[in-house]
Amino acid sequence: MSDAPLGVFDSGVGGLSVLGDLRRALPGEDLLYLADTAHVPYGARPDGEIRELTARAVSALHARGVKGVVVACNTASAFSLGDLRSRFDMPVIGLVPAVKPAVLATRSGVVGVLATPGTMRGTLLADVIREFADPAGVQVLKAVSTELVPLVEAGQADSARAREVLREILTPVAQAGADGLVLGCTHYPFLAGSIRAEFGDTFMLLDSGAAVARHTRRVLEERGLLSARTSGGTEAFLVTGDPARAAPVVTDLLSRALGAANVQNEGE
Ligand code: SIN
Repeated sequence: MSDAPLGVFDSGVGGLSVLGDLRRALPGEDLLYLADTAHVPYGARPDGEIRELTARAVSALHARGVKGVVVACNTASAFSLGDLRSRFDMPVIGLVPAVKPAVLATRSGVVGVLATPGTMRGTLLADVIREFADPAGVQVLKAVSTELVPLVEAGQADSARAREVLREILTPVAQAGADGLVLGCTHYPFLAGSIRAEFGDTFMLLDSGAAVARHTRRVLEERGLLSARTSGGTEAFLVTGDPARAAPVVTDLLSRALGAANVQNEGE
């Protein structure tokens, strides 16, 4: 048992989508979220720099006494998991794009993956395509963007520009018959409304947040690190950039990630 907080790291605010899933799976855990807002986006940076920035951020969480870290960033996970596991004596859990559930769910045999250039370059995505899509004969179409993450960071996930970018990059994927879309970046679940507005029900939207939250729970249990509490976990937030600038977007996305509060009369 451990009442130390669990660290959650992302290049920016996208990992809040994963934090929502972690909160549902781990209601008693204190979550300490670190957003590297001074350096976001990571997606177009060179591999070595992504690795270095990620190690620095995870070090900062380690120094604050976390019992483990969820790397809630696909780009950072793509380059850093091995390195982090060899550096830190604590569980480090990463994200793999949700290709497997997309392959299991597709009827058309064509699925899309929307991700940053970094995630597209990393080996994790290639590995899951080779392991799950190729043997099933499922075609995977890649849609890359460097503009979507900065739009989510700026609080513009529902903006006309976000919809325009999505229309441009996903129209060929829809036209090729894809019926599933893997959201291969933790910022993208916040674009679900814009994707639906442009494409209706064309795509099932798949992300790895709930799966990574279940996996995190299993890892904490196996290592004897799960909190004894079963409710009342707290959330705290750290940023490497300007807190005043980040606060409104964190507040908005956090309320979306945690869902509307279920407020009931005490006598019901
Ligand atoms: C980014 O910082 O560019 C994206 C983060 C992610 O891939 O989840």
